[in-house]
Amino acid sequence: MKIINCQVNHLKNPLGYQITKPDFSYVITDSKAEKQTAARIVIATDQELNNLIFDSGWTNEIDSLGYIADVSLEPRTRYYWTISAKTNLNEEATSSVNWFETGKRREPWEAQWITCKQKTGRHPVFKKQITLTKPLVSARLYICGLGLYEAYLNQERIGNEFLTPYVNDYNSWLQYQTYDVTNQLKKDNELEVILGNGWYKGRFGYERNSKENNYGDAWELIAEVRLTYADGSTSVIGTDSSWKVHYGPITASSIYDGQQVDMTLADTPEEQVLLSKRTTEKLTDRYSTPITIHEELKPIALIHTPADETVLDIGQNQAGIFRLHVKEPKGTKIRLQFGEILQQGNFYNKNLRTAKQEFVYISDGQEKIIQPAFTYFGYRYVKIEGISNLKKEDFTACSLYSRLPKIGEVKTGNEKINKLIDNIEWGLKSNFIDMPTDCSQRDERMGWTGDAQIFSATASFYRDTYAFYQKYLHDIFLEQKQAGGRVPAMAPSFGDKTTSSVWGDAACIIPWNVYLFSGDKKILADQFPSMKAWVDYIEKIDGDNLGWNKGFHFGDWLALDSKSDVKNYVVGATDVDFIVRVYYLISTKLTAKAARILGKKDEAVHYEKLAKKILKYIRDEYYSPNGRCTINTQTALLMTLAFNLIEDKTKIITALAKAFEETGHQFTTGFVGTAILCNTLADNGFEKLACDLLLNEEYPGWLYEVNLGATTVWERWNSVLPNGDISSDGMNSLNHEAYGSIGEFIFKHVAGISPLEEAPGFRKVQIKPLLNWKIRQAEAKYNTAAGSYQIKWILTDSTHVTLSVHVPLGCEALLTLPLAPQDIFTNNSNEMFNQVKDNKCILKPGTYKISYKITEDLHQIFSTYTPIRELFYNKKAKKLLIKSSPNILELPLKLREKSVRELSQAYIKDNPEYEKQLDQLDLALKPLNE
Ligand code: BGC
Repeated sequence: MKIINCQVNHLKNPLGYQITKPDFSYVITDSKAEKQTAARIVIATDQELNNLIFDSGWTNEIDSLGYIADVSLEPRTRYYWTISAKTNLNEEATSSVNWFETGKRREPWEAQWITCKQKTGRHPVFKKQITLTKPLVSARLYICGLGLYEAYLNQERIGNEFLTPYVNDYNSWLQYQTYDVTNQLKKDNELEVILGNGWYKGRFGYERNSKENNYGDAWELIAEVRLTYADGSTSVIGTDSSWKVHYGPITASSIYDGQQVDMTLADTPEEQVLLSKRTTEKLTDRYSTPITIHEELKPIALIHTPADETVLDIGQNQAGIFRLHVKEPKGTKIRLQFGEILQQGNFYNKNLRTAKQEFVYISDGQEKIIQPAFTYFGYRYVKIEGISNLKKEDFTACSLYSRLPKIGEVKTGNEKINKLIDNIEWGLKSNFIDMPTDCSQRDERMGWTGDAQIFSATASFYRDTYAFYQKYLHDIFLEQKQAGGRVPAMAPSFGDKTTSSVWGDAACIIPWNVYLFSGDKKILADQFPSMKAWVDYIEKIDGDNLGWNKGFHFGDWLALDSKSDVKNYVVGATDVDFIVRVYYLISTKLTAKAARILGKKDEAVHYEKLAKKILKYIRDEYYSPNGRCTINTQTALLMTLAFNLIEDKTKIITALAKAFEETGHQFTTGFVGTAILCNTLADNGFEKLACDLLLNEEYPGWLYEVNLGATTVWERWNSVLPNGDISSDGMNSLNHEAYGSIGEFIFKHVAGISPLEEAPGFRKVQIKPLLNWKIRQAEAKYNTAAGSYQIKWILTDSTHVTLSVHVPLGCEALLTLPLAPQDIFTNNSNEMFNQVKDNKCILKPGTYKISYKITEDLHQIFSTYTPIRELFYNKKAKKLLIKSSPNILELPLKLREKSVRELSQAYIKDNPEYEKQLDQLDLALKPLNE
C-alpha cells in the first residue's frame, strides 16, 4: 500500500500560493483493500516532524478528496506534513514528507514599487547588486512586475515560468510570485529584472476595443529578496531608490503583435529609478499556476513556397514561443511570422485579423539561441526571413501552457477518433494560458466565459483542472463584485461590459464541474458567493417583466440552422429567449444544490423555489399541454432532454428523431446544442446516431476536420473548405476550444465512464460503454481524484465483446454491460455479478473481466439496402454509389435516410435496367463487408 498524489489546495508542494487553511488531498494505491478506515494528518515546522503544529489523530473524518485542517498559518513559513492511512485489511502506510510554504499573506511589504522615466519603446532592465556577507541557509524572491517580468540572477533565469505575473483584472488584484533562489546566490550577485508590456499595458482587448494601457501606462516593479543566514539572522533587500535601471534591446512587445529586439543597440547608461505612487495593498499571494514550456517540437518540413517564402511546418498547431539558432552578420534583420495554415501552398495569416504575431530580431553578429519573452504565438507554420541556409534543426517550437497534470487518457480502435482526441487535447493545451481562452492566435485570446463553461467537463476528464479553474473563478468573482453580480462575457473583462446567458452561467457551471470531478466541497464554498451573485443578478434584472430575456444574448452561437440570409450568420435558429430561460434555470438549480451541500438551508430553499418558478414558466411558454416542444430545432429538443425540462419525453424523442431525419442525420447545432449533442442522444436511445455523428467524415463533423489535416479543433464547422481554402478571414480560428467539448462524450460513452453526483470525485461512477463496430475497441486510463480506473472493451468479432474494468480503493462502479443478453446475470460465477441491481453490476474495488456474445451483430453491411447516409460515411462505398448514380449528391438530405432500393421502389418502379445496375452495385459493395 502506498499513498500518492499528496496535495495542498490541489497543488503539489506549493510555494507562495494563496492558502487560507490548507486543504489536503491524496490517493491510496497498491492495496487490495476496499476502503480507508482511518487516517491521520500531521503538520510540523520541521522536516523531521518534531515541532508539530497540527495532529488530527487517527480519525475517520479525513476524506482523501479534501480535508481542511483548522490551523493558523504564519507568513513565509514552510510547513511539512504527512498523511497516514489504514485500510479494512489492517494495512497501514504513511506518505513521504510533503510541504507547503506560505507567501507573504497579509504581511506588509518592506519593498516599494519602483518605475522608470520611459513608458514606451525600449524596455527597462532594473538592477540591484547583492553581496552576501555571511553563510546563507535560505533565500526567497517575492516579486511582481508590470506588465510582465523576467528575473535573472547573475544572468541566469530565475524559475522556469513565462508571462508572469499572469493575467487578471490588475485593478482588483496583483499577484506576486515566490521563488526559492537559495542555490542561485553566490557571494557577489547581480539581480536583473526585465519588464514587458503584456496584458497590462500592451495592446489587448476584444476587437475594436483593443487598446494599449488597459490598466496602466508605466512599467513598475516590486521585489523583496529575503535572506536567512546560518547564524539565524535575516535581511531584506527590497526595491527602493537604490536600484538602477537602463533600457535594453527589446524595443516592442505585445501579446498579439509579438516582440522586437534590436541587439545592435548599446545599453543606455544606468539611471536612478523612480519611486512609484502605487501602494501594496492589492498584492496577493499567487493563485495562477505556472505557465511553462511543456512540449518542444521540431519542424517536420522546411518549405519553399510558390510565393518564394521560407516556411517551417511544425506539424502541429499549438501555442507558445520558440528557440532559434542564429548566426547572421551584425545588422541583419530576422523576421518570423506565425500562421495556422498554408493557402495555395503559401504562408497565410489573415485570420489573425489585426494581430501581427511576429518576432523581429536585429542581429549583433553573435551566434546565439534566441527566444521571445513577453508574447506567445498560436501557430503551426513559421515564415522566416533573414536567415541564410536555414535548417529545420535550427528551430524548436516550445508549447506554453499552465500547469494541468494529465489524468485521463482514451485510445480507441479507430485512428481518426484517436487523432480527434489528440486534437482536442492540443486545443486544450493551447487555450489554457492562465485563463481559458477562446482561441490562441488572433486579436482575441480572451477568457470567454461561454467557451470556458462549454469545455470545462471535457478539460476535467483530460487534466486536473482544479487549481487552474480556481484562479479563473476568482477572476470571475472579482469582476462580479464590481458589476453588481453580473458575470462578464470574458474574464478578465478588460472593461468590456457585455454579459450573456450561457456565457455568464460559467460562474455556476464551472464550480459545479470542478466539484463533480474533484469531490472537494471547497470549490463550492469558495464560489458560492459568486454563484449566488450571478443568479441574484439575473433575478433582479428579470423583475416581473422578463427583463433578462430582453438583454443581449449570444444564443446558439455559430449554429448551422440560422434563418438569416447573411452568409455565415452567427446566431442559430433556436429562440434565444428559450435558451436564456433554460440557462437561468440551470444556474439556479446548481446554486440550490451547492447551498444544500454546504448546509445553507435557507438559501437552498430560496433557490429551489426560484428554480420551480422558472421551470413552470418554461413549461407554460414552450411546451404544449400534451408534451410537444414549440421550438422545433435540434438544440431546443436536445436541451429539453438534457435538462429534464418536461416529464414525459416521448413526444420530444419522436420530434428529435424527425428533426434529424430532416437533415439527413446531420447536426445543425451551435455552441449550446453541440456541447450536449452526443451525450444527450446517447442517453435517450439514440446511441447509434451519437456514434454516427462522431464518426461522420463529411461536413459538418469532427472527422471532416481530421480528414482535412486538422491538428486542433476549429471554431467553425466549415473553417476550412474541402479544397483546403479557409472559408473566411473575419472570425475563423483553427484552434478553438469550444467544439472540443465532444471529448466529454468520448470519455462518458465511448470509454464509458461518468462521475455520479451522489458521490463526486469519482468515488462512485457509472460505467456504460457504447459498442461500435467502427470504433472496435476503447481503453481508458483515468487517474481520478478518488483513484485510478481502467476500462477496456474490445469487439473480438462483430458479435463478441471482452470487457475489463478496474475500480480503485474506496470506490464503487455501476456497470451496465453493453448489449448483454438477459441471462448473463444468472448462473454466472464471475465476481462481477456478486451484486446486481436493475441490470447493473455494482462493482466494489478490484479488477473484473468478462467476455460474452452480444445481442446484436454490429457488423456494418454495405449494400443497396443500407441507408444512403451510412454508405456515405464510408469513402469507398460513397465512391461506388456516386459512380453508379451520379445524381445521388443532389438528393435532399432527408432522403439520404432511405436506401437506394427503397428510393428506386418509390420513384423509379419496375425499371429492370436500373434493378440490374443495383445488383451490380451490390456486387461492387460486397468486398467492403469483409
Ligand atoms: C469568440 C468566441 C466567443 C464569441 C462570443 C468570438 O469572437 O472567439 O468563441 O464566445 O466571440 O460570442
